[in-house]
Amino acid sequence: MIRFWRETVICVLTTIVLVILLNSYNPLPIAEAQPTTTPTTTDKSLLSVAYPNRALSASPAQLPPLPYAYGALTKAIDAETMKLHHSAHHAAYVNNLNDTLKQYPELQKRSVESLLLDLNSVPENIRTKVRNNAGGHLNHTIFWQLMSPQGGGEPTGAIAQEINKTFGSFDAFKKEFNAAGAGRFGSGWVWLVRNPQNQLQIVTTANQDNPIMDGFYPILGNDMWEHAYYLKYRNRRADYLNNWWNVVNWPQINRRSQLSLQ
Ligand SMILES: [Fe+2]
Repeated sequence: MIRFWRETVICVLTTIVLVILLNSYNPLPIAEAQPTTTPTTTDKSLLSVAYPNRALSASPAQLPPLPYAYGALTKAIDAETMKLHHSAHHAAYVNNLNDTLKQYPELQKRSVESLLLDLNSVPENIRTKVRNNAGGHLNHTIFWQLMSPQGGGEPTGAIAQEINKTFGSFDAFKKEFNAAGAGRFGSGWVWLVRNPQNQLQIVTTANQDNPIMDGFYPILGNDMWEHAYYLKYRNRRADYLNNWWNVVNWPQINRRSQLSLQ
């Protein structure tokens, strides 16, 4: 009799434990059970197009200070043009971008570069505004860094050798670059880029498009909008292009060239 009751109690207890164990079993979702995967790699240019070490924030976009005084580049550009260009034109791109993204907090979290690289993910009703103003903000942020009061002269460092190898000589490169800039119809930019084959190439972009939108890394670029030169040079874009080499910041160009190879 005792044996019967002992076996019955053991049986009941075992059943209870099994029920508890079964109820507490909660399989992990498949995603958590998988080994951690490496995040999707972003294009290398996303990390270093605007600056050597970071992308351009859109939360909110901010006008970067000029790294020199408005009157510091008079070897090529007068102070009034610089002031208007930076404090009015560039500032307008920044303000317009922020206004455009005001109703889209999820877009503000993305970098300016990533917006331009994936415009199809931007709602159609604001796509053109984002393209123009994000592009204007990125292009000008790069542009200010490409110039220096101590700039000009012959290229230095590795870029000098690569320019010679690719274009024959610095003069031949300047001639080709200036011709491309002069030939850019309407408003736009002329660039020295690194193409997907890791070669140097001269390209132009319309309006405020940036070369990253075509798969190129922008190393050097000049603004072909009339607002960049009209006060001093009037309609003589070719003269502006020639004089602009007097302020080109070759150490910065070398840094960008190295980044483009990573
Ligand atoms: Fe401009």
